[in-house]
Amino acid sequence: MSATTPLLQVSGLSAFYGDMRALHDVSLEVMPGEIVAIVGANAAGKSTLLRALSSVVRWTGQIRFRGQDVSGIPAHAIVERGLIQVPEGRELFPFMTVEENLDVGSYNRRARAEAAATKEKVFTLLPRLRERRTQLASTMSGGEQQMCAIGRGLMAQPEMLLLDEPSLGLAPVIIRTVYEKLAEVNAAGTTVLLVEQNLKAALRIAHRAYVLESGRIVLSGRSSDLLDDPRLRTAYLGR
Ligand SMILES: Nc1ncnc2c1ncn2[C@@H]1O[C@H](COP(=O)(O)OP(=O)(O)OP(=O)(O)O)[C@@H](O)[C@H]1O
Ligand SMILES: [Mg+2]
Repeated sequence: MSATTPLLQVSGLSAFYGDMRALHDVSLEVMPGEIVAIVGANAAGKSTLLRALSSVVRWTGQIRFRGQDVSGIPAHAIVERGLIQVPEGRELFPFMTVEENLDVGSYNRRARAEAAATKEKVFTLLPRLRERRTQLASTMSGGEQQMCAIGRGLMAQPEMLLLDEPSLGLAPVIIRTVYEKLAEVNAAGTTVLLVEQNLKAALRIAHRAYVLESGRIVLSGRSSDLLDDPRLRTAYLGR
């Protein structure tokens, strides 16, 4: 694939819960190596977008990943292709240890063979997880649990990591640490698509961003431009 081919290309995407349409004609693309943020308020459709990409909600339109049409492909096969979701609220297995949670991440066929080497890389990137490998996930702090969820995602050997509000419920200083780790993950070669209500945290790390409002993309651009955009400043940044 050439460097100019998007890793992920979404066009005319709609998503549905029963008859209710939660996304309307969403189009976006993510280039290899990018960090792209989808920002928006509660109920804008951010989680729904990630669910559509992982094919766990009904959708219409076109989604191409690594140049291939994803339509009709079951969720587990999307994981096999390297599109890995870190869900909202982290959803670790609370009564399993940190290490057992990591092991779950490498269950897919593409990751299983290299699981031991991948775990070593994850422990190097996130040393706290190595320290706490035998601790029950439910007893980790919020920030540690988010790190563990990211580590579990990395265990799947993602081409692209999808993150749903990694800053949720964390203190500003912890958010900063989580985001620094994400920047390291990206620098090591993983493309990142993250959704966030926390506009400032997201725009600080993302190369580009899309603003989602009531299921529609209403604004997009480079993060540095969006931070200066008066429409965004008044609507979301309150200044
Ligand atoms: N399982 C579901 N069944 C019916 N409607 C749903 C379901 N999940 C989400 N919705 C609706 O779809 C819309 C978009 O929800 P979504 O969870 O994608 O928003 P969000 O941007 O992730 O919000 P938040 O920031 O609060 O997580 C909302 O109106 C929500 O009520
Ligand atoms: Mg959500």
